[in-house]
Amino acid sequence: MSSSQTKQNTPSFPATAAGTRFARIAGTGSYLPPKRLTNQDLVAQLAQRGIETSDEWIVERTGIRARHFAEPDVPSSALGVQAARQAIEAAGLQPEDIDLIICATSTPDMVFPSTACLIQNELGIIGCPAFDVQAVCSGFIYALTVADGMIRNGTANRALVIGSEVFSRLLDFNDRTTCVLFGDGAGAVVLEASDQPGIVSTCLHADGRYAKILNVPGNVRGGEIMGDPTLKMDGQAVFKLAVSVLDKAAHEVLEKAGRDASCIDWLIPHQANLRIMQGTAKKLKLPTEKVVVTVDQHGNTSAASIPLALDHAVRSGQVQRGQTLMLEGVGGGFTWGAVLVDY
Ligand code: ACO
Repeated sequence: MSSSQTKQNTPSFPATAAGTRFARIAGTGSYLPPKRLTNQDLVAQLAQRGIETSDEWIVERTGIRARHFAEPDVPSSALGVQAARQAIEAAGLQPEDIDLIICATSTPDMVFPSTACLIQNELGIIGCPAFDVQAVCSGFIYALTVADGMIRNGTANRALVIGSEVFSRLLDFNDRTTCVLFGDGAGAVVLEASDQPGIVSTCLHADGRYAKILNVPGNVRGGEIMGDPTLKMDGQAVFKLAVSVLDKAAHEVLEKAGRDASCIDWLIPHQANLRIMQGTAKKLKLPTEKVVVTVDQHGNTSAASIPLALDHAVRSGQVQRGQTLMLEGVGGGFTWGAVLVDY
């Protein structure tokens, strides 16, 4: 179908009376930079620095086998634009149909303007609100929840929600406990106003007391980098907290929806570590076959990981229309949340 045939500029959207307007996922997209490093590639590169690791250690502790790294001159916005274009096309829309852009990222191109504004410009969209959400690996869940609220209250009809990261820029390649875990990429969804859910229920949480267990403490002052601008993590503390809060968040959105875990066709968690994802599924009494897993091929892409996993599951035919999805994120802050979706 040609782009002019798919253009849908004059729809009638449902009214904003409470309970009559929802946000549904109209299309998904994703993008991975072409440079792919297997564990073996990384092991060889780290060996040149005198850092010892192995494919066996990485696979056993994390489930990660490969990740993608963007070239040094490729920013988050460039990855996000590619994912956004795919999501808009999958929704059967044109960029000018979008009336809200939210980008979740902790690796913005610049201090300001926001990555969302840069993506807006690249897409040739003029005038709609565009802003970033910074909640690290929970960023996409935060962004989706904000967009859901703005659609429900009539502020927007068609929202582009993007997660885009170049986390490779934050890594200390002398720290084997963190540099093997992360990758770069982007994912996006188009949310559209509808008289049917769509997004059924959401929850968001944060607890700043845990800021020290996962952070990038550096800053810029007077043109100088102050402190260390690379990622620091207490892996075991993050692991324990992640499994616990993901379980609580899942139950919270199920309770809000008046449902139980048996309604879930697919669990699509933040892709940090296979063991965390399996632990979460076990607590929900879901078989591991119901967990969408891309961490093995993408590593942890922070705010991009959930929309990347969703898009891969949609395009591979795993996720089908009419199914119920549990999206869950957890990350630095500490932040966490969940979104229950009738897809
Ligand atoms: N290769 C080989 N050995 C390693 C490596 C490596 N890359 N990294 C650590 N080790 C060693 C350690 O030095 C330690 O050795 P020792 O016993 O001689 O002291 C041993 O492996 C065990 O280290 P642990 O830290 O106890 O390993 P653990 O089983 O906890 O796994 C991991 C570490 C993978 C980081 C795990 O704790 C984890 O996944 N935590 C959660 C991480 C996470 O999800 N982070 C993302 C959050 S989302 C966000 O906001 C960015």
